[in-house]
This record gives sequence, C-alpha cells and structure tokens, in this order.
Amino acid sequence: MTAALIDGNALAQSIRTDVAGRTQALKARGITPRLAIVLVGEDPASQVYVKHKVNDSQQTGLEATLERFPADLTEAALLAHIDKLNNDAAVHGILVQLPLPKHMDAHKVIERIAPAKDVDGFHVASAGALMVGQPGFWPCTPFGCMKMIESIGYNLRGKHAVVIGRSNIVGKPMALMLLQQNATVSICHSATPDLKAMTLQADVIVAAVGKQNILTADMVKPGAVVIDVGMNRNDQGKLCGDVDFDGVKQVAGWITPVPGGVGPMTRAMLLVNTLTAAENASKSV
Ligand code: GUN
Repeated sequence: MTAALIDGNALAQSIRTDVAGRTQALKARGITPRLAIVLVGEDPASQVYVKHKVNDSQQTGLEATLERFPADLTEAALLAHIDKLNNDAAVHGILVQLPLPKHMDAHKVIERIAPAKDVDGFHVASAGALMVGQPGFWPCTPFGCMKMIESIGYNLRGKHAVVIGRSNIVGKPMALMLLQQNATVSICHSATPDLKAMTLQADVIVAAVGKQNILTADMVKPGAVVIDVGMNRNDQGKLCGDVDFDGVKQVAGWITPVPGGVGPMTRAMLLVNTLTAAENASKSV
C-alpha cells in the first residue's frame, strides 16, 4: 500500500484563508489583531523563525511587531517589557521566542505572559486548561497535528494513538488532545524498551523526538496514520523528519511529509491563536 499524503502546505493555506476572512471581519469592527514577538539575542534559527512569523501574520492581515533585544538584556528588563505588553490593550498575543539566553529562566518569563495573550500555549494556565478540557490556547504544533488528523475525517474514538516524545510543548499536549477525542493514548520515550512493540499496535503514531529514522516501516501497522513532527538534517544537510518517509509510506495509510507537513501547520496555528485572542478580547469589552 502507498500512504495518502497529508499536505501541510495546502491545509495551512486553507486555514490562513479562513483566518484572513475572520481578521477582515474583526478589522471592520475597528479591531486589528496584533501579535508582539519578542526576540532576545541573535540565535540564527530563531531569527529565521520570527521572520516567518512576522511575514505570515502580515500576509494574513494581522499586525505583528518584532521586538528585538540584545543577548545581555537582564531578565528583570524582559519581565518589565512583558508587563508592558500585558497592559497594552492593542496587543492581543505575546510570543517570546525560545531559546532564551542562558542567564534567563525561560519558565519564569513564560509565566509572566498574561494567559489571555499566551498564543504559544506554553503558560501553565494554558497547559492546565487543556488538561481539564477548558477553553485555552493550545500549543501550535500539536494543535496543527490535530487539524491534520481532522482533515482526513479520521475518527479517533477508541483508536490507539502512540506519541513518541514527551516534551511539554509537543508530546504531552498532543497526548491530551488525542485523549479529548476519546483515543487510547500511549506516550513513549525514544528509550522505551521495544518501541516497535508499542508502535505496531498503533492506529495513529505521532513521532516527536528530534531524531532521524526513529520510526521505520517495520514498526508501523498497515494503514496507520503517521504524523512526523521531527525537524532534523540528514547526512546531506537536507531537512528531514523523525520518520523514514520512503519506507513508512509503503505501509501507512496516511503520512505527513517533512518539509511541507507539520511545520507549516505550526505556523498557521499561531495565526489562529492570535486571531482567537483578539476575538476573545473584543468580546470582553
Ligand atoms: N522556538 C522554537 N519553536 C518555538 C515556538 O513555537 N515558540 C516559541 N516561543 N519559541 C520557539
């Protein structure tokens, strides 16, 4: 069998079109959704990411401001800046790009963001809301993965989903989102003994380890849905995921590519969260 491709670029485009429409509607009521992106230091990858976030926002009609600070900014100064953004009614979403310089406590910084503006979904209040099934911002990557599964009309009820990777921003929230759809969920670590015995039982596999070829064809049940969150470089320096795409696509029912899979969806969901923050703010005035 050859898996059907879940095209992240195409799905992200349709989401951006929807966001653009809702943004226009909000602007017609005098509210411009605004995202403040805070970048501290010169991390090369972060500079590329934030540029994409600004461009995506602007192309969709949202306003995005990039606020850059030197790497030696004090933590106190950053916290004070976040306070300023929290108190600015024209700012609906705040994103502090990670990683932060080593002298800062990233957790403390994220916790300073007002939960109503936490469009990354990294705040403990956002994580807690997801945990108990209350409205709140979902982290963009697992949110995008859920949209991809939804896009193929897949009913997760009673299905076994195996998530490989247990990070706070992908693996754990992903597991909770799958649980909310009544899936049976296993969370594995790359060091889980006999990972293959776990993945072979899975109807849905989400690979989010950050290691090339963590999932190979012999580990996949025929027809499974395979979502590849990995972003790695192979020996030739080419972008690749965690999944052996060429092998796994012979076995899986659906598969996401890298590039063009989860990456564009993560970016699209940030726009959705920012717009939602602005819509929420417009309701509370
Ligand atoms: N660094 C890499 N990815 C992300 C992300 O999604 N959000 C933030 N804030 N920083 C990141």
